[in-house]
Amino acid sequence: MKKLVLMLSTLVALTACTKKQAPAPEPEPATPGSLVLYYSQAGSTEKVAQLIAAKTGADIEKFDVATAYDGDFNATIARCQEEMKNGTVPELAPLTKDVAKYDTIYLGYPIWFGTYAPPVAALLKGVDLKGKVIVPFCTFGSGGIEASVANLKAALPESTILDGYGVRAARVDKAEAEVGCFLVCSGIVPGEKVSLPDFSESKPVSKADIAIFNAACGDYQMPLGIPVLVGSRALGDATEYVFTVKNKGQKDKEASTKIYVTAPNDKNVKPEFTKVVR
Ligand SMILES: Cc1cc2nc3c(=O)[nH]c(=O)nc-3n(C[C@H](O)[C@H](O)[C@H](O)COP(=O)(O)O)c2cc1C
Repeated sequence: MKKLVLMLSTLVALTACTKKQAPAPEPEPATPGSLVLYYSQAGSTEKVAQLIAAKTGADIEKFDVATAYDGDFNATIARCQEEMKNGTVPELAPLTKDVAKYDTIYLGYPIWFGTYAPPVAALLKGVDLKGKVIVPFCTFGSGGIEASVANLKAALPESTILDGYGVRAARVDKAEAEVGCFLVCSGIVPGEKVSLPDFSESKPVSKADIAIFNAACGDYQMPLGIPVLVGSRALGDATEYVFTVKNKGQKDKEASTKIYVTAPNDKNVKPEFTKVVR
């Protein structure tokens, strides 16, 4: 009898041990699915986010930081400057969606201080985006997509970051058509890819070029500089120009930027600048 009790208790102990050592269940693999994850303070990025979700069928979630930035422009600037001075990143407010379940993230943000707004820094700190395909999109006053995408690539070396889509807030009404082209050209949605011609070689600006530049940039709230060189290419119903512009950079040092302008063939339609690349 004693022997039987001993055998049984050994068996129970072994089973318990086996149970303890059983491998933890594998985490569920990310199913092929996409999520539009965006921050927007004043609503422009939100418009683009909704277009992307509608055109791709992706789920959508707006994220924020735990203590939201004040809607007031000056208060937001002051808080950002304080955070930059102290090197702090705000805390992310909890998300409702489980980001781990998605393999593609359309990441949307406004450009603040030349790059992605700090809530994105909070997201990168609080959420694991390793191994995912990131499709950045942004809105801006004048530009910043290139720098923000470069900064995303540096911050997420183990993710695949596409080049992304950006639009000035002032022309967000053009985003619907542009987002459609962007999604097709990036191979995300099916459709006929349009390949654009190269810009012509840059040459000194003529009076006519300066008139186009002024018509496109003249009413921007800040001086954008003096155009000195220009290249162009035909886009079918419009001509796109890339102006090399001399202006004052940081600490009044002479700087050079590129300003992209689209001038419709219909002379009754005003040319507009689409982005500044600093
Ligand atoms: C604090 C702050 C900083 C900004 N910095 C820039 C900037 O460096 N470059 C730029 O082109 N636009 C800048 N903007 C303009 C925003 O990028 C632009 O208004 C954007 O469309 C806002 O997006 P939202 O409406 O989704 O919030 C800034 C706006 C704010 C509030």
